[in-house]
Amino acid sequence: MSVALARIIELPRLEDERGALSLIEAEAHVPFEIRRLYWLYGVPASASRGAHAHRELEQVVIALAGGLSIVLDDGSARRTFELSRPDRGLYVPPRLWRELYAFLPGTVCLVAASEVYREADYIRDYAAFTREVTAA
Ligand code: TYD
Repeated sequence: MSVALARIIELPRLEDERGALSLIEAEAHVPFEIRRLYWLYGVPASASRGAHAHRELEQVVIALAGGLSIVLDDGSARRTFELSRPDRGLYVPPRLWRELYAFLPGTVCLVAASEVYREADYIRDYAAFTREVTAA
């Protein structure tokens, strides 16, 4: 999978004097059926997360509060994204290595995923990842 297929998705933002509301609705805003939500919080500025690829799972990552950086790697090219808006999601297709880092204090990062948690879908070793993607 090429990093070129990763993209920022603009989510609706409904705003008035009472504040703002954003949403993800089935079949409208993300290119897969959402089967799991999880969220990261309390991440120290010095920590990085991810450091794996998924064989099949797709996901959208949203900084609901704060901000973070994400680097995506397809084995030959890399792209870095900065997320800091609750009305923007990063679509991450399968078969990309990802690392999430530079979490600002108070960051809450929501991930909407196409699959339930299944360890067999993970590639957690970078050398194994490059072997799998170059063999495909
Ligand atoms: P890990 O994959 O290390 O998180 P990250 O990708 O953010 O670096 O997951 C941390 C722990 O949580 C690990 O023991 C696996 C477990 N986990 C679940 O049980 N279910 C889930 O949906 C997720 C995302 C992780």
